[in-house]
Amino acid sequence: MIDIFKRLLKKESEEAVVTSDAEAEKDIEEPGTHDHQPDTEPPKEAQEKGEPEGEWVKTGIEGFDSLLERGIPRGAAILIAGGPGSGKTIFCLQTLNYAATHGEKCLYMTFEEGEEKLRKHMHDFGWNPEELEKKGLLVIKRFDPFDVTISVEAMLEKARGELSIEITPVLIPDDFKPDRVVVDSLSAIAAGFIGSERSYRIYIEQLFRYFERMGATSFLITEIGSTPSTISKSGVEEFLADGVVVLYNVRDGNIRQNTIEVLKLRGTGFEKKIVPMGIIAGQGIVVYPEQEIF
Ligand SMILES: Nc1ncnc2c1ncn2[C@@H]1O[C@H](COP(=O)(O)OP(=O)(O)OP(=O)(O)O)[C@@H](O)[C@H]1O
Ligand SMILES: [Mg+2]
Repeated sequence: MIDIFKRLLKKESEEAVVTSDAEAEKDIEEPGTHDHQPDTEPPKEAQEKGEPEGEWVKTGIEGFDSLLERGIPRGAAILIAGGPGSGKTIFCLQTLNYAATHGEKCLYMTFEEGEEKLRKHMHDFGWNPEELEKKGLLVIKRFDPFDVTISVEAMLEKARGELSIEITPVLIPDDFKPDRVVVDSLSAIAAGFIGSERSYRIYIEQLFRYFERMGATSFLITEIGSTPSTISKSGVEEFLADGVVVLYNVRDGNIRQNTIEVLKLRGTGFEKKIVPMGIIAGQGIVVYPEQEIF
């Protein structure tokens, strides 16, 4: 894994130079200071000029895209939050399958389930990952969260001295520049940083910036309790993200229902409503925007 860090994209690392720990901390933006468009209004200029083609991307998930006025802004970072088994992984596999079949280069970075298991999930829903992989449109790659921790801690430790240090937070294969990326999950990465939350915050902040510079639309999975009070582990993720989608497993008596909500999306309007969804074998996730829950 250290080797992989060495193979990180050179030009990216030049932009991510951290000279000291104090500087690294300073680099973390405070909640609300991130330079982005306001939550639901499209930028004024864009409204006047009309949107250029391809500025908005679809998830390809039936019913979900119609919750959004325009789609997801290309290059946005979207948190996919939900309780255990709520469908986060399937949501992300489905959007990558859609994007890759439409010619986008897609990368699924898994810190949890193995690559083969993910391919099997895709087959269960009628998708063909091997065909997309052969065409060079899909890469599924597993990483060990503890390798990330060790590398990041080592780099931060080095930065405590006077030596300048390069931090590039993502282990993307050199020869693959993705249009769409999934990280499954930030919670698994956070588990590797237990006891060094500050390093985790530094890592996450750099990760968001890295995807932003690369222009990749990113979907970052985060696990929350079944009845969430906060969306992310450290709180920093939801401020850095351009959008937050929450998957719930709602209970009414002895019945549970899968539901989904767009909680935040910068730069476009969206339906502010929790709507039912189904996870259907041979098909994937289907969202029912017209239906009420229960
Ligand atoms: N082949 C299938 N057919 C129908 N439903 C399925 C199938 N496979 C999984 N599911 C449903 O999807 C849910 C799991 O989805 P997924 O793995 O995306 O959840 P997750 O939120 O990523 O879970 P975790 O927190 O464990 O990572 C299961 O609880 C089940 O209800
Ligand atoms: Mg999962």
